[in-house]
Amino acid sequence: MTTKNTLLSHLRPADPKDAHTLPASLYVDPDILNIEYETIFENTWQLIGHIDQVKNPGDQLVCQVGKIPVVVVRNQEKTLKAFHNVCRHRAGPVAIENNNSKVLRCRYHGWTYTLDGQLKSAPEMNSTPNFEVCQFHLPQLLLREWQGFIFVCAGDSPAPFEQVFASISENIQPIDLSEMSFSHRDEYVIECNWKVYMDNYLEGYHLPHVHPGLNKLLDYRSYDTLLQPWYSYQFSPLDDNSNGENFYGEGKAHYYCIYPNLMLNILPGRLQTNIILPLDHQKTRIIFDYYYSDPSSKQTKQLIEQDREFSDVVQDEDIAICEKVQLGLNSGSYHTGRLCMKRETGVLHFQNLIRQSLRDAIEGEQLKDY
Ligand code: FES
Ligand SMILES: [Fe+2]
Repeated sequence: MTTKNTLLSHLRPADPKDAHTLPASLYVDPDILNIEYETIFENTWQLIGHIDQVKNPGDQLVCQVGKIPVVVVRNQEKTLKAFHNVCRHRAGPVAIENNNSKVLRCRYHGWTYTLDGQLKSAPEMNSTPNFEVCQFHLPQLLLREWQGFIFVCAGDSPAPFEQVFASISENIQPIDLSEMSFSHRDEYVIECNWKVYMDNYLEGYHLPHVHPGLNKLLDYRSYDTLLQPWYSYQFSPLDDNSNGENFYGEGKAHYYCIYPNLMLNILPGRLQTNIILPLDHQKTRIIFDYYYSDPSSKQTKQLIEQDREFSDVVQDEDIAICEKVQLGLNSGSYHTGRLCMKRETGVLHFQNLIRQSLRDAIEGEQLKDY
């Protein structure tokens, strides 16, 4: 196990003049993930769904934020609210699946809450001393809507939402994500730490070596990365010299990686969201949701087929290399490495945010056992 002092020495921000990776221990030690759940996943804006999933009063969407089961509901006043999906009686679920109902009713003993999270009735509790339903309320999460998507935060003090997503809407114009509709979801479970997958996404350095097909579509030389406080933005013109292999059309490929675990991959008429969720310290669930401007048109249906097939190939290539990297990190042979400042500034940026989050945790004494 890493000592607190050794860990602290690795958490100083890495200077671009001497940029090095996070230490392998942060990808190998199971205790680190518990800290990350609290300080990162439960204190940042997490994408949990699309407003089309909760259009009508009573609609309920179940999800998880960090380790917290969550339910998002549209109440009778048509406002979206997010609550811990954890009953105040004995921690049962107040919603088990996506549903529509006038109330949130716990499936364990039937305690029933309004769509505003207030306990309304509790069977057979009348004779229980010192008990009144008005004392119990489901804890609420912060919630924001943006471009048709729903984000929640379980903590009290995330970075301001506008700052996290600063200028993305303007930059992708004339694309408007809220005009796109959900088409399908693909899921993958990968045997690596979630940060291995993030690091890999954050650089185009591996493109020529890992993705020969994708490399033909994109212009590697003009592939560039811009950094903002809370995201990195990679972009590339779509190459029209790709001998007809580019079925995405002309324009620009926008790749946003928003701290800590969200990617928005935007191409003309198409959005793919990637959500990266740790299952344990060396197992990660990746969710790809696809949205298109007009998913039912004949032309888009063909694009969807090609897009899915192509993304699968790229994803398999990424999975294979990420799982091998995890073996290297586990081996004891590697501690930390140097980053390429022409191609890996996005990795440095992400890893410095991780360093900052973990330093905050140490200051907040969450790492006292180290
Ligand atoms: S745990 Fe919810 S009613 Fe008992
Ligand atoms: Fe890749």
